[in-house]
Amino acid sequence: MLAGVSDIGIYIPKYYLSHEDLAKARGVPKEKYHIGLGNHNMAIIPNWEDSVTMAANAAQQILERNNIDPNEIRQLVVSTESGVDHSKPVASFVQGLLNIGTRCRVYEIKHACYGGTAGLVDSIEWISRHTNSEPKGIVIMTDIAKYGFGTAGEPTQGAGALALLVDDNPRLFSLDTMLNGIFSKNVYDFWRPTGHRVPIVDGKYSIDCYLMALEGAISHFRENLGLREGELLENLDYIVYHMPFTKMAHKAHRHLVEIEYRDSSPESREKIFEESFARMVAPSLTGVQEVGNIYTGSVYMGLVSLLEAEGERAEGKRIGLFSYGSGCGAEFFLCQMMQGIGRVVDSMGLREQLENRKKLTFEQYVQFYSKSGEEVLYYPEEAKGFKNKFTRFVFTGFQEHRRQYA
Ligand code: HMG
Repeated sequence: MLAGVSDIGIYIPKYYLSHEDLAKARGVPKEKYHIGLGNHNMAIIPNWEDSVTMAANAAQQILERNNIDPNEIRQLVVSTESGVDHSKPVASFVQGLLNIGTRCRVYEIKHACYGGTAGLVDSIEWISRHTNSEPKGIVIMTDIAKYGFGTAGEPTQGAGALALLVDDNPRLFSLDTMLNGIFSKNVYDFWRPTGHRVPIVDGKYSIDCYLMALEGAISHFRENLGLREGELLENLDYIVYHMPFTKMAHKAHRHLVEIEYRDSSPESREKIFEESFARMVAPSLTGVQEVGNIYTGSVYMGLVSLLEAEGERAEGKRIGLFSYGSGCGAEFFLCQMMQGIGRVVDSMGLREQLENRKKLTFEQYVQFYSKSGEEVLYYPEEAKGFKNKFTRFVFTGFQEHRRQYA
């Protein structure tokens, strides 16, 4: 029996700033963002949302769609680097908002953007060991990628959450965690010391660390599958990379082709890169181009983008996922897609959320940027106006240092 994932809920804030407007304000050609980074718009989170509401809004969708009684959830894991408390986990707030019962293991997990994958692997292994009937778990990745104002990281901002329903009879994909290729190393490429509102980033070095981790994870994965160099691409149908910005997927795939075909001529490597990128990687890019980096959820938003783009063509296919988190930790793993995934994919709603967003001016972005995270108070009546089909929970402020949600 192989456990896996039966459904994915995705939530993105309904505001965005275009990279064209950001480029104008920053005095750089828009091509730097559109071509150099490959991004077009980035999600902006208003201050009535936070990592808790995004997590609950994503998970609520999978409870509703699958008619699940919240008491059936026995493990609730939230991965985030945008936590709201040093002690109280985001997962506990989510448990409360979703009315999940007391007989459930509830915890938060952190390892930069990789943490969600650690939570997923742990949950799948927990399900596989479970002897009770029909065990169900939810793994959530929720983050606000916020960089210093006017810094090189600013155009790679974004926000969003993903919730994965994990069970022992997966309708979307199964995952044999014993095959996963792993790489971890202690590096300082991107970090946010306690008390800092935005990360410290060694941008170019972080790209080198990402590529080093990809190489290490791929080499371990190949070994686990008994493959030789040059045999990886023919054993996969698609690859989804962790994407802090769209161009990172190009850099990653180019590196993978260079490793896999190191003895081939540069011309033949270029041909393999162009063909395999268009077929295997490009379908996963919509989310990052439109939303930006969402840290822990990034690679899973890539998977949702791919599934929405490919639909039933993805049935029975083998998708390689590369999850990377600064610091650093990484894992390359194989999702074996099921048959009959059409109905699950049709209800994911990423495209629908993107089509219904509101564009902010640069001046409005500045207001949102400087306000979010500060002490705010919305009255419940006012907060109702912020809700819609996807936004069910909003943050209304603090009372006696306790976060309030409506
Ligand atoms: P930058 O200063 O914008 O770099 O920083 P740049 O000046 O080299 O420009 C970027 C690209 O735009 C270059 O292309 C330029 O040539 C191109 P490349 O050489 O890379 O192919 N360019 C243009 N293209 C067309 N027309 C033009 C033009 N001008 C320039 N006119 C950097 C870029 C990514 C470093 C910065 O945005 C940054 O620091 N980002 C944050 C860190 C990051 O995303 N790192 C990625 C790997 S680490 C990771 O993924 C983990 C992470 O998600 C965190 C976590 O785990 O929690 C970040």
